[in-house]
Order: sequence, then C-alpha cells, then structure tokens
Amino acid sequence: MENKQKPQIISISSGKGGVGKTSFTINLAAALSAKSRKVLLIDGDLGLANVDVMLGLNVKHTLRETVEEGRDPLEILVEVMPGFFVLPASSGVPEMASLSYEEQAFLIDSLEQIIGNFDFVLVDTAAGVGESVLWFNNWADKNITLLSPDPTAITDAYALIKIMKTRYNKEDFHLIINNVKSKKEAQEVFDNMSTVLENFLGVKPCYQGAIPQDSAVSMAVRQQKPFLIAQPKARASLAVTEICNKILS
Ligand SMILES: Nc1ncnc2c1ncn2[C@@H]1O[C@H](COP(=O)(O)OP(=O)(O)O)[C@@H](O)[C@H]1O
Ligand SMILES: [Mg+2]
Repeated sequence: MENKQKPQIISISSGKGGVGKTSFTINLAAALSAKSRKVLLIDGDLGLANVDVMLGLNVKHTLRETVEEGRDPLEILVEVMPGFFVLPASSGVPEMASLSYEEQAFLIDSLEQIIGNFDFVLVDTAAGVGESVLWFNNWADKNITLLSPDPTAITDAYALIKIMKTRYNKEDFHLIINNVKSKKEAQEVFDNMSTVLENFLGVKPCYQGAIPQDSAVSMAVRQQKPFLIAQPKARASLAVTEICNKILS
C-alpha cells in the first residue's frame, strides 16, 4: 500500500451501550467502500470487542498484540470486502479496557503509521465515558454521537458531549438518531438535544441523519453481515446510504 494524504478520522460513540454504534459503523464502512473509498474500521472497544463477531470474521491477531508486543497493525488488518478493512480488538481482556497513558500513546502512534493508506478511519468506541472513549474522540477529526429516543440514551449522550466540550474544548458534534419510528420523532429528539446542548454547554450540534427501527438490522446482526449487503433496499440501508452521501458531500 502506498502512502497518501491524511484520512478523515471519525469516531462513533453514544455514552450508553446497545444504541447501535457497531451496527451503524459496520454499515457506514460498507457504504463508503461501495463508493470506492478505502476505509479502516478500528474496533475501539478494546476490552470487549465485537466488530469481528458482527462481521463473522475469523480473527487471528488483534490490537492487543500491537499494544503488548508491538505488532505492526498492518499484520492485524482483515479485509472484509474490497476497500473495507477492520482492525479487530480483543474481548474479555480487562487490561485492554484501561490502558496506561504510555500504552495509549503507543497505540495511537502505531495507528498513525498506517492510516495514510486510507480515505476514512472509523472508530467504533466502547460504551460509557471511559478513558479510551475520550482519547479516541479527541484523536478523531469528527465526532458522531448516536442516540435513540430512549431517555437514558439521551442523558448518556449529553454526558459524553459535556465531557468532550469541558475537557478537550471540542465544539463540533454530529448527531445521529437511531431506532426511530418516524422522521418526525428523529427531528424532535434532535431538537430537544440541541436546545439542551445550546443552553447548558453553548454547543450547536449538526444533524447528521436518522436511522429507522428496522428488523433488517437485527436480522443482519444474526447473519453476521452488514444490513446494507444483506438487504440493500431495507429502510435502514437507505438511511445509512443517505448519511454516507452527506459525509462525502
Ligand atoms: N435501527 C435499528 N433497528 C432495529 N434494531 C437495531 C437498530 N439499531 C440497532 N439495533 C439493535 O440493537 C442491538 C445493539 O446494537 P449494537 O450495534 O451492538 O449497539 P452498540 O454497539 O451501541 O452497543 C443490536 O442487536 C441491533 O440489532
Ligand atoms: Mg458495540
């Protein structure tokens, strides 16, 4: 692979778990690669990884070996489909979920060595507001926060954005409302969140899009395939394609 210019690094977070980060990130990667972009998806849930499971990958090496043994991330990469590469992480390894400052710096440095090969780097972060979530968000050029109409998903997304603003002075947040019954519901959730963010943090978020509640999503999780591939005409697939086009525009 030859080195190109710096890619756009996008982190995907939610605060709360189970909001749909991994499903969305896998499908955004599939959508971007279908448009001839070279995409690296990093499983940022370092201690409880599941990108590999959702894609049905047979993983031999993980980012744990980069952190612990200095293994070149290029030796860990798995190509899922043309132009869509995954850096898998380890699961059930609590040490990986709480890296020291030096280990974090080493991991980011190792990732920086290889990302020039890609157009987009997507980081599917862990749930919660742990250190890895914060430094992956800080590393990224663009922060996408996923929320659902569920009140706890809304408060947790707010908590994450508040920390990113107060600790790192990030101002630019892109919201995706997942699991909605209608565009109207998505717009209402966005408007409420936007009002709270403006009033309490002085942050004006961008509306990145919405994804409907769709059985194609859970079906694809069970089939271990992106829904965009399994059911390209499903409503969720059309929604992710729309978000992908917005990111490319
Ligand atoms: N738009 C949606 N419609 C229906 N089910 C969804 C949708 N988004 C996510 N899900 C379901 O929610 C569950 C959690 O999704 P996942 O991507 O693992 O969340 P996270 O990575 O945030 O923990 C999955 O079983 C998935 O099928
Ligand atoms: Mg996940």
